[in-house]
Amino acid sequence: MAARTPELDPAALPLGLAPRTVFVTGKGGVGKSTVAAALALAWRDAGARTLLVELEGQASAAALLSPKKIGYEPVPLGEHLCGIRITMAEALREYVRLRLKVKLVADRLVGNPIIDQFAQAAPGFRDLLILGKLWWLATEKDSRGHRKWDAIVVDSPATGHGLGLLGMAGTIARMFPVGPIAAQAKAVDEYVRDAARVGIVLVALPEELPVTETLELREELASRGIDVAAEVLNGLLIDRFTGAESKRVEGLLDDAGTSLDPGVRHALETVVWEHTRCSDQAAERERLEAGIGHGVCVLPHMFVPQLGREHVASLARWLAPGGQDVLLAQLAGATDGPAAAAAVHAAGGAS
Ligand SMILES: Nc1ncnc2c1ncn2[C@@H]1O[C@H](COP(=O)(O)OP(=O)(O)OP(=O)(O)O)[C@@H](O)[C@H]1O
Ligand SMILES: [Mg+2]
Repeated sequence: MAARTPELDPAALPLGLAPRTVFVTGKGGVGKSTVAAALALAWRDAGARTLLVELEGQASAAALLSPKKIGYEPVPLGEHLCGIRITMAEALREYVRLRLKVKLVADRLVGNPIIDQFAQAAPGFRDLLILGKLWWLATEKDSRGHRKWDAIVVDSPATGHGLGLLGMAGTIARMFPVGPIAAQAKAVDEYVRDAARVGIVLVALPEELPVTETLELREELASRGIDVAAEVLNGLLIDRFTGAESKRVEGLLDDAGTSLDPGVRHALETVVWEHTRCSDQAAERERLEAGIGHGVCVLPHMFVPQLGREHVASLARWLAPGGQDVLLAQLAGATDGPAAAAAVHAAGGAS
């Protein structure tokens, strides 16, 4: 960890969010890990000391930023940016060690297959341990009495399981109203319910079913009193063709019938397909924003076979206010065809 404290730039905050703990969640495969890595980078770039968290069973977010292997102790992934991987077994070992203050007992207890099986079989217990660790990290101070982490970004499991995780501290606090577990569960529950300290970032794709599911999920979260701090619509295509251009190409295809060279036909069909796809995505974005009642943050689809660190760095820049402004302007009226898409990609690659 770097000794010098970075300076927070309020104008550069990604998603317009002050640093806090966020659970990046959404349906399977929508880009949760990618957005978590990009958000961690963007917060760090805005001057926040940032911790990217992977949970057991989820792997990949930290690997998008650095080849370093991460574990239960924070590992630097860059300046003012660390990664950590929280496993149930390590969290249990640490908890027992802190409570019993005897390392030997902790190691024996955690290595014991019966205790391990109990912990695995009691999901509430497991979730409380993980939340407890996050709460600990969020409140941890350095030697000068400053909080160690301004931002904690959790690459969370696909929704469903993630919801259970967040509600668990409250459930346990109610199950055990007195005693040491109750005290911790209560502190953790208060942390999870404090919108200034903890929020959800929902990731969605601009397609019919994912948008519908995201709207349902938001309602469910609201009914449980869990704050959604921001929504990210990932994978938007930037239209390279105007409506008029697409119509003209459609006309050419109709007029030419079967006389066109197959390669040329394919290229022209791609123009029409891409424009139609962009229009469909715009409609889904509108439906999502209407359902939520405000605008969402957008991220472009990157045309690469596999996302590398430089692409995640681009996505981080798109998440920052300057990048969002460029992107939203292009989505609002990419009337200058390829030049508009080129501008978006160039801006994404600029440092
Ligand atoms: N904006 C983007 N442009 C291009 N590809 C993307 C983008 N966002 C994500 N992807 C790709 O989509 C795939 C799924 O992304 P990711 O692994 O982040 O999703 P996930 O929601 O974490 O998935 P899982 O539910 O399996 O954990 C990956 O191959 C990733 O590289
Ligand atoms: Mg993932």
